[in-house]
Amino acid sequence: MTSAVRTEGLTKSYGHAVALEDLDLEIPAGVIFGYLGPNGAGKTTTIRLLMGMIRPARGRVEVLGLPVPEKRNEVHRRVGYLPGDFVAYGDMTGEEYLRFLARLRGGIDWSEVDALSKRFELDLDERIASLSHGNRQKVGLVQAFMHRPELLVLDEPTSGLDPLMQREFLALLDEVRAEGRTVLLSSHILAEVEEAADHVGILRRGRLVMVESVSALTARAIRRIELSFGEIPDVETLRTLRGVNEVRMVGNTAHLVVEGTTEELFRVAAPFGIQSVVTHEADLEEIFLDYYAGDSR
Ligand SMILES: Nc1ncnc2c1ncn2[C@@H]1O[C@H](COP(=O)(O)OP(=O)(O)OP(=O)(O)O)[C@@H](O)[C@H]1O
Ligand SMILES: [Mg+2]
Repeated sequence: MTSAVRTEGLTKSYGHAVALEDLDLEIPAGVIFGYLGPNGAGKTTTIRLLMGMIRPARGRVEVLGLPVPEKRNEVHRRVGYLPGDFVAYGDMTGEEYLRFLARLRGGIDWSEVDALSKRFELDLDERIASLSHGNRQKVGLVQAFMHRPELLVLDEPTSGLDPLMQREFLALLDEVRAEGRTVLLSSHILAEVEEAADHVGILRRGRLVMVESVSALTARAIRRIELSFGEIPDVETLRTLRGVNEVRMVGNTAHLVVEGTTEELFRVAAPFGIQSVVTHEADLEEIFLDYYAGDSR
């Protein structure tokens, strides 16, 4: 199967500053790919290169199997693109603007626009200039989704959306995933990526420092667990179990820090009579922050 996105040695500089260096990125079709990284890491630069908005210093780009920038126009027709700095013509209404884009794309099924606007509670009769930041962002989302593209390239799509609309956006991504479409989602919001994405790539100072599946990350994630026992087990025994990083006994309760699997822990602990279990949600934040800051790993 062709990849939805493929880059090879993709490099972009602004003057002497390297914004993106030797990016080899492959996004298989049907995957929701979360693209994370601190401010200035090169996320928007990557996306602009994919869409042929800027030219690389070197390297190759293929989107839906088409070389960019050569096939840029076809890519623009087939991809749903939401730029990070989405701006629309202020004196048009939402409807006028979307009809204009629909014509450029060779016509679309307008019921899709109605459905998306209703979903995002967007009034298409308002002039775009008079819309709030969040509502303008919704116009950007509708134009990216309205032709039901097989690939969506979204640069911080939830920027400015209220929590309810962020939920709605995540629900929309779930449907897109179920339909086997592909999404490149750049974001700062770890929780959003953790929930929405199948794979995550982290970019730091123009370099891709990690690509992994969210399930593999979750399997490695750190969990805090409290086990209360009928009969107090030997702390040293618990400490040596696979996945257990830390144990502290308070009365009959063991406070544990577990990395990855809890299988062995529960097998060994069960005979001591577990009276209660409290687990705190596994959190990828610690893993992410390590990569963001770029220490130890
Ligand atoms: N037009 C430009 N002229 C000069 N430098 C630029 C330009 N666009 C981007 N850069 C530089 O390229 C680097 C990468 O920027 P980019 O916008 O891709 O980061 P980003 O990951 O999207 O950041 P953010 O999370 O803040 O959106 C930064 O150092 C930025 O200053
Ligand atoms: Mg950006």
